[in-house]
Amino acid sequence: MTESRSKDDVAERIARLRAEINYHAYRYYTLDDPIISDAEYDQLMQELRQLEEAYPELITPDSPTQRVGAPPRPEFRKVIHPVPMTSLSNAFNDEDMRAWLTRIKRLLPEDLPLDELAFVVEPKFDGLAVALTYEGGVLVRGATRGDGVEGEDVTENLRTVKNIPLRIPVTPDGPSPPARIEVRGEVYLPIADFNQLNQEQMAKGERLYANPRNAAAGSVRQLDSRITARRRLAFFAYAIGYLEGGPSFTSHWEALGYLKELGFPVSPDIRRTRDFEEVLRFIREWRERRDHLPYEADGMVIKVDSLVLQRRLGIVGNAPRWAIAYKFPPREATTRVLSIEVNVGRTGVLTPYAVLEPINVGGVTVRQATLHNFEDLMRKDIRVGDTVIVIRAGDVIPQVVKPIIERRPPDSRPYSMPTHCPSCGERVIKPEGEVAVYCVNAACPAQLVRRIEHFVSRGAMDIVGFGERIAEQLVEAGLLSDVGDIYSLKDKRERLLELEGFGEKKVDNLLRAIEASKQQPLERVVTALGIRGVGSVVAKTLVEHFPSLDALGAATEEDLQRVEGIGPEIARSVVEWFARPRHQEVLRKLRAAGVRTEAMPRVTEGAAPLRGLTFVITGTLPTLSRDQARALIEAAGGKVTDSVSRKTDYLVLGENPGSKLDKARELGTKIIDETTLLQMTGQGQVLSTKG
Ligand code: IVH
Repeated sequence: MTESRSKDDVAERIARLRAEINYHAYRYYTLDDPIISDAEYDQLMQELRQLEEAYPELITPDSPTQRVGAPPRPEFRKVIHPVPMTSLSNAFNDEDMRAWLTRIKRLLPEDLPLDELAFVVEPKFDGLAVALTYEGGVLVRGATRGDGVEGEDVTENLRTVKNIPLRIPVTPDGPSPPARIEVRGEVYLPIADFNQLNQEQMAKGERLYANPRNAAAGSVRQLDSRITARRRLAFFAYAIGYLEGGPSFTSHWEALGYLKELGFPVSPDIRRTRDFEEVLRFIREWRERRDHLPYEADGMVIKVDSLVLQRRLGIVGNAPRWAIAYKFPPREATTRVLSIEVNVGRTGVLTPYAVLEPINVGGVTVRQATLHNFEDLMRKDIRVGDTVIVIRAGDVIPQVVKPIIERRPPDSRPYSMPTHCPSCGERVIKPEGEVAVYCVNAACPAQLVRRIEHFVSRGAMDIVGFGERIAEQLVEAGLLSDVGDIYSLKDKRERLLELEGFGEKKVDNLLRAIEASKQQPLERVVTALGIRGVGSVVAKTLVEHFPSLDALGAATEEDLQRVEGIGPEIARSVVEWFARPRHQEVLRKLRAAGVRTEAMPRVTEGAAPLRGLTFVITGTLPTLSRDQARALIEAAGGKVTDSVSRKTDYLVLGENPGSKLDKARELGTKIIDETTLLQMTGQGQVLSTKG
């Protein structure tokens, strides 16, 4: 804002901002269907707030800064909150937090002994705020926050949330119920259930939810509570709105304890401290953990613990001074689609993805996002040049939710489906009744690269150091025409050395790791084959019933279906896989190379040389990966643990060992190398023949 800006200009800008914010608030709160990201919305609000601060005479009661949330939907009965449900002011960094601390200290009585000032730090659950009223221990009403003063009556819907008590106390030994209590908290949808819901929505051709919060809100504000019941919503309690005929407390912490005693779910991650630096530390810790939580937390809420001090600090506008929300970086963002590319999977399925203008989403730079499948892409009509909403929830792959039509460039053109495979150029096919589009060319290089990647991957043959890049290089150089060729690479040493980035050492390591993988148990070999529908769990089941590749290959669909856990689709897929001459050729190569084709015999008395012995592995072993070494020891009847103790019999020592070596020396544990381990397990012979 410049000094020279006239008041008329400001008034005009304020009017525009209000109109824009009102529209987006309506899309967000009433329709649960936002078209801009939270960050952009916050920015508009921020600008409006700043202008209003500079020109307080321009504030009107209907300005969006003057209210808490959204107006209730006309379809629901209204509920007036006896105690208004306020909002929270925000902090975005440590500096904001310290400024908050200074502010509240200034407002507190001077004679306050500083150790009276304690803080409660809680996750800021990203869902929908609700108030639950219990009379004589019975849930009589559940309401949304609405605009803070008036909410919506969603009692029937909230009754379907599994961990909301319908009657308190929940346990027979809990305190007797108060005459009346209003419990406040957040209804949320766990991330896994959110992803599943969106997948189901997609399969039904219905709209996707932008984030777990919109999904939770959309689920609670259903007119048909049977729909709410099908969504796996959950609840966390974080405050008492009011309490009659119950105990009295002096702190928020005590109130939370009471809620817990009554049987309300209270987050186990809530902490109390007098040390403000610890508050900041705890916030940092949480920001790190955020991606690994089962639910979405968009920040932390920091509250002054003492209820006396809370009262003293009071409320300004619609936010209490005694609490503040520290917001994490947002998980959704808008960015532009630079191009739409197609990935070819191991089974030939073509999957579209968007290449994006790089954007930070919740602390991670996102350059690509999945577009799921062509049907979804066409239905949403996502185009190159579009501005799109991108989300990233937890650890999952970023997804494009939808385009913002309002921001579409006028010259954009709809995407057209590929008619040919982007890798091999063969015509693609779309089987009747299937969403997927396939490349069915058996020699398609992209598919081969994916099959190799899968074969060598950690969950399959676990060939250490053999990654995506190497798979691509080897296919490009014509050194591999199927996964069976991996085992004849040792005869092509010279050719390998010619490849970019391949030196003697790298080639040696790679060939050694390939040799070692021949010892992998049969279930890993079966997983590695890449039969559709056969992952590691199914492979294990199959191997238990068909303990060799011969037995598995000879099984009919009926034989297979007799096995618990094997349905008609997997049975057909297995039989079809073995029927292909191309796959028989792969099997021939694996057998010739000496890859394990039979299950390891069950450990019996005689064949368990390591029975009763406990091993710890440290450092990098020359040929075996950790998992392989563990499997070998276990197959020989031994046990592997993570840390050295007096019960440890042997420490298996590799390169760059950790502190376990010191510990072993201290305790006098026997230390052996890989070769000794192989000899002890009776595998020494097999592996020492390698070149
Ligand atoms: S306390 C006066 N605690 O954040 C304090 N709110 O902007 C009022 N929220 O919609 C709320 N987790 O639903 C509080 N641990 C927590 C929270 C929390 C999430 C939500 C709340 C409200 C918003 C406040």
